[in-house]
Amino acid sequence: MINTAHHHNHFRRLICLFFIISLTTSINLITPTQFLTGNQTLLSAGEQFELGFFTPGNTNNYYIGIWYKQIDLQTFVWVANRDKPLRNSPGILKISSDDNNLVLTDSTGKTLWSSNLSINGNPVAELLDNGNFILRQSNDEDPENYLWQSFDHPTDTMLPGMKLGWDAKSGLNRYITSWKSIDDPSTGDYSFKLDINGFPEIYLTKKQRIDYRSGPWNGLRFSGVPEMTSNSPFTFLFVMNQDEVFYSFDLSNTSVYSRLIIRHWGALQRWTWISTTSDWNLFWYAPKDQCDDYRECGVYGICDTNASPVCKCLKGFVPRNLQAWNLRDGSDGCVRVGDLDCGSDGFLILHNVKLPESGTAFVDMNMNLNECGVFCKRNCSCMGYSNANITGGGTGCVIWAADLYDMRQYAAAEGGQDFYLRVPQGDLEQQGAVGSEDDSGKTEKIIKIAGFTGGIGILLVGLAIFLLWRKRKSRNAQSNILGNRGPKERSQDFLLNTPTIPSIREHSGENGEEEFDLPLIDLSTIVISTNNFSDANKLGQGGFGCVYKGILTEGEEIAVKRLSKSSGQGIEEFKNEVKLIARLQHRNLVRLLGCCVEMEEKMLIYEYMENKSLDSFLFNKDKGSLLDWQRRFKIICGIARGLLYLHQDSRFRIIHRDLKASNILLDKEMNPKISDFGMARIFGADQTEANTKRVVGTYGYMSPEYAMDGLFSVKSDVFSFGVLVLEIVSGKKNRGFYQTNNQLNLLSYAWKLYREGRGIEVMDSAAGESFSGSEVMRCIQVGLLCVQEHAEDRPNMSTVVLMLSSDCASVPQPKHPGYCLGRRPVENDSSSSKQDESCTVNQVTVTVIDGR
Ligand SMILES: *[C@@H]1O[C@H](CO)[C@@H](O)[C@H](O)[C@H]1NC(C)=O
Ligand SMILES: *[C@@H]1O[C@H](CO)[C@@H](O)[C@H](O)[C@H]1NC(C)=O
Ligand SMILES: *[C@@H]1O[C@H](CO)[C@@H](O)[C@H](O)[C@H]1NC(C)=O
Ligand SMILES: *[C@@H]1O[C@H](CO)[C@@H](O)[C@H](O)[C@H]1NC(C)=O
Ligand SMILES: *[C@@H]1O[C@H](CO)[C@@H](O)[C@H](O)[C@H]1NC(C)=O
Repeated sequence: MINTAHHHNHFRRLICLFFIISLTTSINLITPTQFLTGNQTLLSAGEQFELGFFTPGNTNNYYIGIWYKQIDLQTFVWVANRDKPLRNSPGILKISSDDNNLVLTDSTGKTLWSSNLSINGNPVAELLDNGNFILRQSNDEDPENYLWQSFDHPTDTMLPGMKLGWDAKSGLNRYITSWKSIDDPSTGDYSFKLDINGFPEIYLTKKQRIDYRSGPWNGLRFSGVPEMTSNSPFTFLFVMNQDEVFYSFDLSNTSVYSRLIIRHWGALQRWTWISTTSDWNLFWYAPKDQCDDYRECGVYGICDTNASPVCKCLKGFVPRNLQAWNLRDGSDGCVRVGDLDCGSDGFLILHNVKLPESGTAFVDMNMNLNECGVFCKRNCSCMGYSNANITGGGTGCVIWAADLYDMRQYAAAEGGQDFYLRVPQGDLEQQGAVGSEDDSGKTEKIIKIAGFTGGIGILLVGLAIFLLWRKRKSRNAQSNILGNRGPKERSQDFLLNTPTIPSIREHSGENGEEEFDLPLIDLSTIVISTNNFSDANKLGQGGFGCVYKGILTEGEEIAVKRLSKSSGQGIEEFKNEVKLIARLQHRNLVRLLGCCVEMEEKMLIYEYMENKSLDSFLFNKDKGSLLDWQRRFKIICGIARGLLYLHQDSRFRIIHRDLKASNILLDKEMNPKISDFGMARIFGADQTEANTKRVVGTYGYMSPEYAMDGLFSVKSDVFSFGVLVLEIVSGKKNRGFYQTNNQLNLLSYAWKLYREGRGIEVMDSAAGESFSGSEVMRCIQVGLLCVQEHAEDRPNMSTVVLMLSSDCASVPQPKHPGYCLGRRPVENDSSSSKQDESCTVNQVTVTVIDGR
């Protein structure tokens, strides 16, 4: 389990040791004569999973849990006695000699947990390689005959092969429920549970309150999870018949792990682990955006993240409470303007929607869409209908004979499906019907179903479809709910394809083989776009040169970094480095779009970030309040992920060396993006750890070993990250931080409060009232760990990401932080004053030589 050889696993070991007392012996079966005590574990046959006692966090509570055997960082997938911990010492897990049940008793013999069945025979308990802990008769391995299985009693995690849902035979409805907190596995507030009524779907609830729903299964995916595709290695399964209704997933590749977990703050997350990257990766999560919030737009409202405001009324409806609606509160929903007339109503097709709440819907798998329409039309309380299964052109019928709630609009490329909304005849014929002020350009068609002539008997079913609206091509089709991808892709397409910029050439490798093509951009294009590098276009300046905003002819915005002339590298070398850097692509890194090397000039062209840099918000009295806690936490996690990518996940290891608030840029949605990475490479230094003469860094962010000895490693980036985290939490600069006692810098100030149990006071009051105290404390603790004096005491970024985002990681106690402020760094030779004369570099990035 523990690999002592790897230095960088050191931290993980520490974390693991928090949980495990000692791993001396393991067994494969619990029998009436073989039980599990203190430091023994039960191992699955293929050593995939392990079961044993653990104590989370710094508590003295012992639980029986199951975790991945092959993953160093202990990740729990099941807990037996989540609400009945053993106090102070582990107990015994055994087959009871009284009633043959699997029981957990404490040291006094009191039963804390039991499989609680009536059992005869000779049962044994075994942990299977899929993570299922089972009780079976010793001579019967047939899964149908298991006496008891942990898969029927999940805690917060769904594993491949597990069924989430209902079993008619046992009456069991299996669902997952969050832990109470990071180190408390007891039953928390959030669950994810299948509702088998109507057209079944899964609800995420906090106690009684619904927060999110998956939407019903439409044959391909949940109607509200457009991202769900059975891409290899995943298969998703939804079974609905008389015996059972359940959702399940599976993996075809055994070297990939995946789990669906409901977190204690109410997020549903899918994590995957691929052995090659050795880390959990957040694959999917919900709720994801405003439109995922349950009933965001009320009754007969529809939510569209690509529209502003996000709520619209369905065609033929207007806001019920216009005042609230205009204040962006859509919860009162919409009311119908015209009157329905059962006999003459028609149906309007809404494309690409998440189906409305369907707990009361009626489903008939044997009807086709036409029959469904007729059926709906005949039932005057039917408000709409849809195919129940959209695969293979669509089959089955669902009708809604109730008010419609919680619909959302997806872009055409994303998903959703057709929904047929009942509207009065008048609304079909009159374009731009009341209630839809927006003219969003979504394609709309109207169909009329031939009515009945009088009330007589059986009628021929005829369906006439009229296309009354001219079909408009959806302009929004390409945009993406994930938001930040849209503009980025556009700008790149622009650079690569737009004929109005003939100067951008595709570049291929000299040796003929097609290499990554980095667009080379003409100097003249840049000069025009930046208005000849005018001061008005200047965005900022740094140690490597000035940055200008450029606007290309079609209005696309770019940021141009004009490098100082003395970058010390030849053209080819430079181009090669830039090409490498441009390949680093991550949503938390500023994207390099191209470069320009002409005459004496070297320039890098980046995507333009609307919201400039983090420091402009963080340290500004007026703008600080725009960063509420949730946003700050997201920013911290985003930076951590970006840095992890640089350190570990990218093809080659990049040490940033100058991470700081002004190097974190924010896009339109305030997503953080790290900039200026790879500069060390471009400027000709590349080793993972090296003693360098030319120390580049910024006061207040430099680790002691870097400032003092010029020694840099990934751990010096971790130090800078720690400073950044504390700055984001506190809204205060480390550099130039003076509390009443000006001996304290931000690090020691945070440390002092933390040690006195007043850590929460570190938090910036501008971050608002609504925050999770445990999240804030976790950030402070992680921040302090990152700024430890000795590099080996600092976690690496993968541990940081895990500690920030995962409740299975316990965060070790930090020690006194390291200081580099206050010490004078060593002097260096003068070869380091390499700055562009035309652009004086002062505050932002300092080299040690001009040590101020
Ligand atoms: C459990 O661990 C302790 C201390 O490491 C050891 O003394 C004891 O023998 C172990 N017990 C078993 C049953 O392995
Ligand atoms: C066992 O089941 C019974 C009824 O099903 C229940 O009342 C009892 O509390 C359960 N006992 C334990 C220890 O879970
Ligand atoms: C949906 O339709 C496809 C093909 O028509 C069929 O294979 C599949 O079993 C159906 N799914 C459900 C849930 O009925
Ligand atoms: C399984 O996943 C691993 C890791 O991603 C990959 O290297 C391997 O090729 C995959 N195997 C198959 C059969 O897809
Ligand atoms: C309309 O359909 C709903 C749902 O199937 C049903 O409950 C209701 O009785 C129907 N009403 C009429 C008038 O048929």
